[in-house]
Amino acid sequence: MKRIGILTSGGDAAGMNASVRAIARSAISAGLEAYGINYGFAGLVAGDIHKLESIDMDGIISRGGTILYSARFPEFAEEKTQLKGIEQLKKFGIDALVVIGGDGSYHGAERLTQHGFNSIGMPGTIDNDIPGTDFTVGFDTAVSVALDALDRVNDTATSHQRTFIVELMGRGAGDIALWAGVAADADAIVIPEREYDIEAIAEKIKQNRKNGKDHNLIVLAEGVMSAAEFKEKLDKFGTLHTRAITLGHIQRGGSPTARDRVLASRFGDFAVKLLLEGKGGLAIGIRDNKLVASDIIDTLENHKHITDVSLQDLNDRLRF
Ligand code: F6P
Repeated sequence: MKRIGILTSGGDAAGMNASVRAIARSAISAGLEAYGINYGFAGLVAGDIHKLESIDMDGIISRGGTILYSARFPEFAEEKTQLKGIEQLKKFGIDALVVIGGDGSYHGAERLTQHGFNSIGMPGTIDNDIPGTDFTVGFDTAVSVALDALDRVNDTATSHQRTFIVELMGRGAGDIALWAGVAADADAIVIPEREYDIEAIAEKIKQNRKNGKDHNLIVLAEGVMSAAEFKEKLDKFGTLHTRAITLGHIQRGGSPTARDRVLASRFGDFAVKLLLEGKGGLAIGIRDNKLVASDIIDTLENHKHITDVSLQDLNDRLRF
């Protein structure tokens, strides 16, 4: 094996650059060549591929976004498009590919593996919803961005005696809402993994008022519904002085936390080590702080990410 290709795909996440750096530098220090593929699978098919030098990786560990750019490319579900991608990889003499991304990107890596092209999926998404790993790169940064916003919202909620509903990202997963919600002392965390009782939430707000707390924070995962819809439902229970906010793509940007940078560095180095050992067709991850690799096809077909819903119970026990 001489050449490793790297691409970032799907929604970007802080720490994607740290991931690219780790793969490229690990490969180069092992005597291999690293090739960057721009715009995810779209760029792969178009042949937008270039050699990466160690100097290109200088300073990118702290930068948000991805120097390789990203794209959503549903066309990659078609076999002829996948074969075109493999043709491009062969044209550039690339022997193995590391795909940094979320669920959709993993499926791209899975398809290439099914066609016999050695590919590794490396978890890079704010959603933390990838099977085969406890944490994804980008999640910790997204949580800290969300927490900063929630703390600020709490300030104004307190001044104005209001109830704020803050919608956080996560696609179908409630992980960002759970972590940021616990850390922000939320009065309720509403996630798609569990039923919610809006009447009980309205009652809690009223009780809080009676007990002397006249501001509230409800953290809502986008997979449940929008903040605007939730507000409409909650407002039916009386005048609770509600405001609805959607934090949106702010959660995806910014300089990665130390935790995301270190995780990205460990994953990138691990991916290269596996490829050097002749292993591929894998999804890599971290479990109980140990780097792990599992068959990418089996991981995607037979496993699901498990959100730690016990954090919601914890929050309920600790709230006012
Ligand atoms: O997967 C990352 C994510 O930010 C999700 O949390 C969100 O649902 C989605 O991407 C938004 O996608 P887009 O950038 O296409 O609006």
